[in-house]
Amino acid sequence: MGNSSAEFDFDQLIARRGTDSRKWDDIGSVFGSEEVLPLWIADMDFASPPAVAAKIRERAGHSVYAYNTRDRAPFSQAIIDWVRRRHDWNIEKEWIVQAPGVVPAIILSILALSKPGDGIIIQPPVYPPFFASIKDNHRNIVENPLISHNGYYEMDFADLEQKLANPDNKLLLLCSPHNPVGRVWKREELTRVYNLCQAYQVDVLSDEIHSDLVYGGHKHTVFASLGTPVCHQSITFMAASKTFNIAGLNTSFIIVPCKQRRGLIETEINRMHLRRNNLFGVLATEAAYQAGEAWLDALLVYLEKNAAMLVDFMEARLPGVKVVKPEGTFLAWLDFRAYFNEANELSKFLVEQAQVGLNPGLAFGTQAAGFARLNFATRQSVVLEAVTRIEKAIKQLDRRGS
Ligand SMILES: Cc1ncc(COP(=O)(O)O)c(C=O)c1O
Repeated sequence: MGNSSAEFDFDQLIARRGTDSRKWDDIGSVFGSEEVLPLWIADMDFASPPAVAAKIRERAGHSVYAYNTRDRAPFSQAIIDWVRRRHDWNIEKEWIVQAPGVVPAIILSILALSKPGDGIIIQPPVYPPFFASIKDNHRNIVENPLISHNGYYEMDFADLEQKLANPDNKLLLLCSPHNPVGRVWKREELTRVYNLCQAYQVDVLSDEIHSDLVYGGHKHTVFASLGTPVCHQSITFMAASKTFNIAGLNTSFIIVPCKQRRGLIETEINRMHLRRNNLFGVLATEAAYQAGEAWLDALLVYLEKNAAMLVDFMEARLPGVKVVKPEGTFLAWLDFRAYFNEANELSKFLVEQAQVGLNPGLAFGTQAAGFARLNFATRQSVVLEAVTRIEKAIKQLDRRGS
């Protein structure tokens, strides 16, 4: 397969300022500075695959953008083929439920499968909207924090079992692969989770939005595929949005093998009249899955090099800032605790001294003061500029401290 980076130029400079980009155009309101180099919100600075742009252009040429059909057969077929090819999982058309973003899809599922006051287990540090999705819908956040072994995170199974055994806790919201710590959960780890959830009859909402972004030596396992033939207690959330940089098109899908649970989720979707998907989102997803594979393979090579460069740089030049190479996702989890224990101080330092816009750790859980998340899905030269800015600012701190 022609998957060399030469075929797809990820080093091409694409100016995003002035395109209503959340990442680039909102830095003033988010960081209070127009000077920061933005490496925060999880999208990429790369063009989507040529086939995606071509499909959108082709459809845009027809100037009627009115109501689109609800069940477009090539869309579900593209999903079925992709999930089989990339993730060895056979799904049926009926299991696929279209949704807007993954976060709204998670919320719809929480509303469908739990009641106000129920406990929902999450594994912090974790993607911030997990907290809000639970709290804002009057469910209880139940934390099963991950354990770090020198920056390599694992699940705390004993604590998880305790939380699952409590009959007040009705759902586990899994992040797989995990944002922000970059773990691609191993099949054995997920099997342990699966067995525990079966034993205590807890449904699993598995957010697999990052499942296509996995690096050499690691393999994503779809949680629901662990059952025989599928786990009926698992709901899987996926999208082409992270993989192919089309998050602005607001299109995702939920895979629900269980007819009864699917009915409950569809009832919520109908209740809110959300069964109308974005015309361009559907077409872009379809084109990406049908014709974006070579582009994705090249992207993964590029991203993995960025990750390696970042880690090597830190180890060689800034050993006080700890980072473990992520197994998946385009996010790196930086541990600044050797320098900062107070979250506000770190945020202030990153913006004012280093002039980089990262996500503050504390947003991912109370465990994460002193951490920050860096999005390395950008040109290699930008990643290098960011780490160089951090190095310079830290060296100034060291000088002041000594
Ligand atoms: C784990 C996870 N879930 C969901 C999302 C966002 O999904 P959406 O924009 O489709 O709501 C993200 C984006 O960063 C994410 O990291």
